[in-house]
Amino acid sequence: LPRLTVLISGRGSNMEALLSACNSGALSAEIGCVISNRADAGGLKTARDHDIETAVVPHTEFPTRDDFDRALAARVLQSDPELVVLAGFMRILGVSFLDHFDGRLMNIHPSLLPKYPGLNTHQRAIDNGDRHGGATVHYTTGELDGGPPIIQAREPIGPDDNADALAARVLRLEHSIYPLAVQWHVTGRLDYNGGEPLLDGEPLPETG
Ligand code: GAR
Repeated sequence: LPRLTVLISGRGSNMEALLSACNSGALSAEIGCVISNRADAGGLKTARDHDIETAVVPHTEFPTRDDFDRALAARVLQSDPELVVLAGFMRILGVSFLDHFDGRLMNIHPSLLPKYPGLNTHQRAIDNGDRHGGATVHYTTGELDGGPPIIQAREPIGPDDNADALAARVLRLEHSIYPLAVQWHVTGRLDYNGGEPLLDGEPLPETG
């Protein structure tokens, strides 16, 4: 089975959704390794409970961002992944990391990108009077929460909505679109195509 290395910084519910999909057979892959930049990430315990190899590469122990990127790349390469999956990994990655994983690095972000990269996405959508929030799975290139989108899920914003309630509803959608996007990748249905992903050789349908 194709091996996934999942990078997390916290709770790890998306990692768990990927794990469930692997276990149910909905995702034809296995999680070979879970790596966190924080030793206290809750998702590490979940991974260990499932006998998945874990590692911590603490960003605080490196003098520069570039030193961290190099160390993280080395640890990820050691896990020998077919695809690297960012699942709530909250560090910006630079070229010393990205150059190793061109076309095999995915991220999920809780907004309808290109809207609201960064933090507080749901509050920003509500404050702007948007009718929908959502989440995006994309191949990761240079920019923060940037790169060619693969799939988006939309969630309506109600008149009395709040960021926590919206985040919880969007998170459920994240848990279904992330395994789907990863499945498309590992079964060869996505063509990275130098940064314009195709699904079964066709442009991806318009989403958002
Ligand atoms: C998820 O909502 C994910 O989309 C977001 O962090 C959360 C992690 O939750 N990622 C980003 O904001 C990336 N910029 P999880 O640890 O339970 O999967």
